[in-house]
Amino acid sequence: MKLKLRSGTPADAEICGTICYAAFKTISEAHGFTPDFPAPEVAIGLLKWMLAHPGFYSVVAELDDRIAGSNFLDERNTIAGVGPITVDPTVQNRAIGRRLMDAVHERASERNFPGVRLIQSGFHTRSLSLYAKLGYDVREHLACMQGDALGISIKGHIVRPTTEADVESCNRLCRQVHGHDRDGELRDALERSSPTVVEHDGRITGYATVIGFFGHAVGETNKDLKALIGAAKEFAGPGFLLPTRNGELFRWCLSNGLRIAQPMTLMSKGLYNEPSGSFLPSILY
Ligand SMILES: CC(C)(COP(=O)(O)OP(=O)(O)OC[C@H]1O[C@@H](n2cnc3c(N)ncnc32)[C@H](O)[C@@H]1OP(=O)(O)O)[C@@H](O)C(=O)NCCC(=O)NCCS
Repeated sequence: MKLKLRSGTPADAEICGTICYAAFKTISEAHGFTPDFPAPEVAIGLLKWMLAHPGFYSVVAELDDRIAGSNFLDERNTIAGVGPITVDPTVQNRAIGRRLMDAVHERASERNFPGVRLIQSGFHTRSLSLYAKLGYDVREHLACMQGDALGISIKGHIVRPTTEADVESCNRLCRQVHGHDRDGELRDALERSSPTVVEHDGRITGYATVIGFFGHAVGETNKDLKALIGAAKEFAGPGFLLPTRNGELFRWCLSNGLRIAQPMTLMSKGLYNEPSGSFLPSILY
């Protein structure tokens, strides 16, 4: 069997997306969880967008000239994000995943990223072992939270749509919480979705690109995140990712009727700043 790695193109979206859907469906259903992608078209659509986006590096694995998997590096921010990595379920556990990870790490070091991050499905022993062997440390245990929109407002914390003029304040806040900004993701969100900010005492104290699987949020305090979560019309995709170490926010979500869809893990390799503030990571890390 001959394994070849090459960079991806939008023409790979159909096959890579179908593999991505099948890989997540197989592992989720084997553990009694709902698959992350509800249909192949959703995975194909996401990969089509990533394969065409100049901010993502992609790598495709071919086994005997047949596509067997793919991986991505989100290069839009100071810290790079790894994934989604998926290998055709019929050829898993044969080191293809390791090769796909090596490829994005080589790219990250060529591009001088100080650190890489990813989100791991908490029930998946194989990916947990692989990432730990590759040098990733566990940073946060996450609960993917889902449920009906809360329709809750927090006194003195006004949530409104984000505008271009807010970007610098949001980036400053992100640097304060994470030590780096996520400017590329925020600008993408301004074009593609409806990001929100929260104002308190006349200044921006929190923002969310979206409260959902593919969005991140930061706040000076838990009140800022409660305001953003409370104002969200829905929790997009499988749900939003909540660091369970933040017991106060976690219990607030649970006491307001939200439920845990699945456990997940935030892992990183290289530079990592312990956050100082409240945050919700995105699945792209
Ligand atoms: C995760 C995934 C990409 C890994 O790819 P793969 O080709 O199956 O994995 P590999 O064979 O390269 O590596 C698996 C490693 O884990 C080790 N491993 C597997 N199960 C293990 C366990 N229970 N305990 C310890 N080690 C284990 C293997 O020995 C191997 O280690 P090695 O590289 O040192 O030999 C693939 O399984 C997949 O697509 N899974 C479904 C989708 C998914 O979960 N994606 C990741 C999202 S977080």
